[in-house]
Amino acid sequence: MHFICAINDIEEGTSKGFTIGEQAIFVVKKDNVLHAYHNRCPHLGIELEYQEDQFLDSEGALIQCSTHGALFLIDSGHCVSGPCQGDNLTIAATQIEAGSLYLINAT
Ligand code: FES
Repeated sequence: MHFICAINDIEEGTSKGFTIGEQAIFVVKKDNVLHAYHNRCPHLGIELEYQEDQFLDSEGALIQCSTHGALFLIDSGHCVSGPCQGDNLTIAATQIEAGSLYLINAT
């Protein structure tokens, strides 16, 4: 297991990117729940953000790819709009322990 961050490092309604070993992931906190995904858009396989730690749309309601604007549900990573509609972000396997978030199976 690899340490990602403390749960309180991410504010409600915001997102943050991390590089753990060779894996780029990002974490969104919504309704006090952390959602972690690999930072790879299913459309072209590239990272989603243009500005550091900005993975959400302007309302903070959906995850947004900055390249072609694909929109994903925060809860599931399911793409609801854009060129990869119907596809999914890859969930990053994480575990919470003693107030911190850890990545399982980091390479
Ligand atoms: S690369 Fe993400 S929508 Fe095209």
